[in-house]
Amino acid sequence: MDRTIRIAPSVLPVDFSKLGQAVVDLDAAGVDLIQWDVMDGQFVPNLTFGPDVIASVRGLTSLPFEAHLMVLTPDAMAARWVEAGCQRLIVHAEACTHLHRTLGAIRDLGATAAVALNPATPASAVAHVLDLVDMVLVMTVNPGFGGQRYIASMEPKIAEVRRMIDDAGVEAVVEVDGGIAPDTIAGAARAGATVLVAGSALFRDPLGLGHAVADLRSRAQAATA
Ligand code: DX5
Repeated sequence: MDRTIRIAPSVLPVDFSKLGQAVVDLDAAGVDLIQWDVMDGQFVPNLTFGPDVIASVRGLTSLPFEAHLMVLTPDAMAARWVEAGCQRLIVHAEACTHLHRTLGAIRDLGATAAVALNPATPASAVAHVLDLVDMVLVMTVNPGFGGQRYIASMEPKIAEVRRMIDDAGVEAVVEVDGGIAPDTIAGAARAGATVLVAGSALFRDPLGLGHAVADLRSRAQAATA
């Protein structure tokens, strides 16, 4: 099991008029990858960016990109996100009528596939697709907006997903997204998350992005030492 702690910023809180500089700054701050919160205004009550926006900044960093597809029809544009430079596509189990087929189609595009679970969705929803994913994302907020409160009651589900992956004997990691901050990251890491998505907590650190990234990483590492 890959226990490496990875910090993945969400660019949702960024001033979109300075998106390119934000990507450069995040790279310099030491993040491990960048998560793009894609929202269609249907699956979630918010609307963000399309593949062309991601493609426009792809050349500014060599960091991996993952697209968190909070969209009703992830199959429709899967190829576009990969062409835009995303190495991983995260689809929501709740949005996929044929989740097994969707994950296989993402892998056929040459990307890695991941599945996200909203707070109300049981871990059992991914029981039969763990062989197709390299990551399961357990949401610790209801998707659509940054700056929400971490739902600590998701920690047993994080641990359950981790156990399911171990029992299945597959190489996949657990990601957590929503309300990750200095006071919540330890609980998520102890529960089994190794990829931690943070948005507002990174950008509101008065000591800057570099401090925020290092602080979150060290807290997660200390919690799992
Ligand atoms: C919700 C988004 C947020 C974002 C992180 O749809 O996915 O969780 O990435 O935002 P913070 O870290 O501010 O909760």
